[in-house]
Amino acid sequence: MLPPPPGDPDPRAARALPTLPRAADSGGHHGTVLITVVDHPLAHQALATLRDVETDRVGFRHAMDDLAGILVYEATRTLRTETYEVTTPMATTTGTRLAEPPMAVPILRAGLGLLPGVLRLLPDVPTGFIGVARNEETLVPEPYMNSVPDDLDGRDVLVLDPMLATGGSLTHACGILRDRNPGRLICVCVLAAPEGVAALDRSGLADELVVGSIDDHLNEVAYIVPGLGDAGDRLYGTA
Ligand code: PRP
Ligand code: URA
Repeated sequence: MLPPPPGDPDPRAARALPTLPRAADSGGHHGTVLITVVDHPLAHQALATLRDVETDRVGFRHAMDDLAGILVYEATRTLRTETYEVTTPMATTTGTRLAEPPMAVPILRAGLGLLPGVLRLLPDVPTGFIGVARNEETLVPEPYMNSVPDDLDGRDVLVLDPMLATGGSLTHACGILRDRNPGRLICVCVLAAPEGVAALDRSGLADELVVGSIDDHLNEVAYIVPGLGDAGDRLYGTA
């Protein structure tokens, strides 16, 4: 659901943003999240399409998919690789491949919009799902699903969520993952608010954040400005 237009009286406007867990109380590791804001003309173009209020659902999904491929390209840059022998028609040479495919974990619902872009580049990745809905009154994330294995056995994870607003949802998901023996937790987002980036960083739960843009601020109902509106609603057409 979109927030009311600026100036409309809103009973939620006065409440403060929730306090999010810090590494010390959530079992996370300490450290500063490594942030990459993807600076590429094709990423800027897809982002502009996503922001445009005139973009319909089909166009929105396509632009999200285009941007997902670019974000994932960046997000996989730091994954461990191994070399192996390749025989060409002419000779043998050395090839490179990922040492182990990461796990993809979309945060339902809107994270599903980024999943096809991941699977296009990494078709064999295992996928886990975390369902979290932000309570729009309290802004507290309310979990409703988790299909991530109990032990990730050191596997790197791409955590997919287009929107990092207060940081409640992504921090909640990273807390679940951090407790399950992951390798690197790499968050992939379309847009972030500075408040959400700070919350994720303070939590100490994520290793990296790859994002299309860090926008100006959150509005009085914790939507990203200028943002793109409600990502889940624009992808799926329902509130
Ligand atoms: C949106 C978005 C993020 C979350 C961001 O999901 O997809 O998960 O809000 O807000 P936060 O950083 O303040 O937690 P929402 O809860 O609306 O659910 P949806 O994906 O089902 O639309
Ligand atoms: N969730 C969204 O979908 N958009 C925002 O701007 C904030 C949270």
